[in-house]
Amino acid sequence: MILVVGGAGYIGSHLVKELVLTEEVVVLDNGSTGHFSSIADGVSIVQGDLGNPEVLKSIFTKYPIKAVMHFAANSLIGESVENPLKYYKNNVAATLALLETMMEFNIKNFIFSSTAATYGIPTVDLITEETPTYPINPYGKSKLMIEDILEDFYDAYGLNYVVLRYFNAAGAHISGEIGERHDPETHLIPIILEHLLGEREKISIFGTDYETSDGTCIRDYIHVTDLAKAHILALEALLEGKVGKEIYNLGNGRGYSVKEVVDMCQKVTGRKAIIEYAKRRPGDPAKLVASSQRIYEDFGWRPKYRLEEIIETAWKWHSQ
Ligand code: UFG
Repeated sequence: MILVVGGAGYIGSHLVKELVLTEEVVVLDNGSTGHFSSIADGVSIVQGDLGNPEVLKSIFTKYPIKAVMHFAANSLIGESVENPLKYYKNNVAATLALLETMMEFNIKNFIFSSTAATYGIPTVDLITEETPTYPINPYGKSKLMIEDILEDFYDAYGLNYVVLRYFNAAGAHISGEIGERHDPETHLIPIILEHLLGEREKISIFGTDYETSDGTCIRDYIHVTDLAKAHILALEALLEGKVGKEIYNLGNGRGYSVKEVVDMCQKVTGRKAIIEYAKRRPGDPAKLVASSQRIYEDFGWRPKYRLEEIIETAWKWHSQ
């Protein structure tokens, strides 16, 4: 049995859809940002907070948990700057409570959702796991704090873990059954598609004076099912005792500017966007592109979906 914390969320629910094919799964989620309706059939669901030891103890007593996969976090950079307490409380303190209870129950396998935001403003073209981490906002810092805690727990308590640093998660399940649903929505691709569906008047491009080919920010968009597949490989390796403490980037290794993403959305949908050029959004690095060479070498993971297919799946989901 695998415990998926935050399994009702965007990335968690896509993982659960894959994981349930091979493992028994229990999801713990408080429903704050996720949707219980997104959880695949056949999964046990517990509604509660991961920071609540009583809830965790009851799960660990009831189910024979082999590993914990942790997706539950607040993940909006701007919000983290305005309300750091929320981020240190929900992302750091609550995760520590989870780890403490795991140690009490001798559960020693852990997969942690981390982020490209741990790198801050990198000076390299392609970010590897060796690129120095200097997060510039409380969100990135909160994730890096847990990464540091995990390393100490590995040394002191023998906790085996895999940290996965996602770049820009995007797209929807190929079935069209689940997809990205945030409230409020702040992410680029869903915002463009909502506009193209007539749900928003226009889109804003934040910043046109970055030092990039067309002046807009470059990101590495990675399909949510590709992310899910990487988790399955990491879990297998953990359960087979093949890895102890590992960190992997997850991206496509190809950057797209905001303008290129808008163009691709127009191409996929055959619709024309109304664009407003706005000033920079605070805290946005010019360029974040991953090298995912390490996880390819260790687990043979390669992303399957390119930007066009990412947008096609997202469009299928959004237009339903
Ligand atoms: N953007 C716009 N207009 C919008 C929304 C976004 O121009 O309406 C731009 C942003 O300025 C940025 C790019 O589109 O340059 C992507 O923005 P997103 O908000 O979609 O994603 P971010 O890169 O800001 O952040 C995402 C996750 C973070 C994670 C980060 C890692 O939300 O949790 O990727 O790369 F840390």
